[in-house]
Amino acid sequence: MKYSTAGESHGQGILALVEDFPAGLTIDFDLINAELRRRQGGYGRGGRQKIETDTAEILTGIWRGQSTGAPITLWIKNQDCRIDTAPDITCPRPGHADLAGAVKYGLPIRPVLERASARETAGRVAAGALAKHLLRRQNITVIGFVKSIGTFTLPADDRHFTPEELLQRRNESEFYTVFPEQDCELKKYVDGIAKDGDTVGGVVEVRAFYVPIGLGSHVQWTDKLDGKLARAVMSVQSVKGVEIGLGFESARTLGSAMHDPIGYDAGLEHAPCRGFVRQTNNAGGIEGGMTNGAAVVLRAAVKPIPTLLKPLDSIDLMTKKPMPAVYERSDVCAVPAASVVIENAAAWEIADGLQNETACGGKI
Ligand SMILES: Cc1cc2nc3c(=O)[nH]c(=O)nc-3n(C[C@H](O)[C@H](O)[C@H](O)COP(=O)(O)O)c2cc1C
Repeated sequence: MKYSTAGESHGQGILALVEDFPAGLTIDFDLINAELRRRQGGYGRGGRQKIETDTAEILTGIWRGQSTGAPITLWIKNQDCRIDTAPDITCPRPGHADLAGAVKYGLPIRPVLERASARETAGRVAAGALAKHLLRRQNITVIGFVKSIGTFTLPADDRHFTPEELLQRRNESEFYTVFPEQDCELKKYVDGIAKDGDTVGGVVEVRAFYVPIGLGSHVQWTDKLDGKLARAVMSVQSVKGVEIGLGFESARTLGSAMHDPIGYDAGLEHAPCRGFVRQTNNAGGIEGGMTNGAAVVLRAAVKPIPTLLKPLDSIDLMTKKPMPAVYERSDVCAVPAASVVIENAAAWEIADGLQNETACGGKI
C-alpha cells in the first residue's frame, strides 16, 4: 500500500490519496473522524483548532460503504481557507521550512509555510485510521501516548498497564499521557511556559500489541520494519529522534542485560507470538527488521514549536537586514497532537507490513 498527501494549511483542504488498499473492507467513518478529532485536541493547542472541525469525506474508492481496491481519496476541508489573501512574510522563522524552502524553490515564504505546516498531518492521520481497519481484523491495537513534556517528570513505570488500561488512561488525560492524575500539574507547567512566550516539546511512545511474529523482513533493507517505522515517524513535523525498544540506552547497556531471553509457552502456540515469549522487551518487539511476537515499542522526540511569541533573530529576505522572526498564530505545545499523528503513522506501517505478507511468501 502507499499514500501521499496534498493540500495547504489555509488552502481548500487536505487530501490523502491511498493506493493498493484491499477491497471488501467496510469503512468505519466514525473511527477515522474520531482520530481526526483527537489530532485537533490535547492541551496546548492554539486558536486554529477552534476554527476547524476536521471530518474526512471519502471521494473515491468506496462503493456502498466498502473499499473496492481502487485508489481511495480522503478529503478534509479547511474552514480557515484564505491562502490567496493571507499576507506574505519576508522574515523566515528559525526551526521552520521557511528559509530553505524559499531559497530552494525561489518562492516567497507563504507558499512554503502553507505546505510545510503540520496541518498536513490531518491527511496522515486519516490514512493511518484507514489502515487501522486492517489491524482491527487481526485484533492488533496500536496505542500512542505522551511519555513526557519538557522536563516535567511523569511516573516512570507504565510498563505494567494492559492495552485496555493504557487506552482508558490516555483517553482520560487532556495531555494524552497515561497519568491523567498529573494533568493539573502539567497544565501549570505548560501555562508557565506559555506565559513566558515560550514553547515546549516532549516524548511520544507508541505500543503495538498482538502483532504477529515475522512482520517486515531481513532479506532487503527497504523491507525492514524498524527502518520503515523510523522513516514514517521521523518525517512527522517536529520529530527529531526515533528509538525502538531500549533505543539510545542500548548503547550504554551490556549485551547480557540488553537482549531478551527466549522462552516457550505451549498455551500460546496459536497466539500472534506462536508461543515464543520474552520476560523483557528491550528489543521493542523487532529483531532483524521483523516483529518477534512481543509488543512493538517506539518512542519519538518532538521538538518545541518553533513559532515563538518572543521571536528569535532572523534576516529579512528582501533587505538582508536583521529582523525578529514573524509570529503566526501558533500552538504552545503540540506533543499530544503529535502523539496522534505518530500513532497513525506507525499503524500505517504495521498494516502495510501485514499486507506485504501475502506477497513475500511469508507464513504468518
Ligand atoms: C501536530 C503538530 C502541530 C504543530 N503546530 C505548530 C504550530 O502551531 N506552530 C508552529 O510553528 N509549528 C507547529 N508544528 C511544528 C512545525 O510544523 C514543524 O516544526 C515545522 O514544519 C518544521 O519541521 P521540522 O520540525 O520537522 O523540521 C506542529 C507540529 C505538529 C506535529
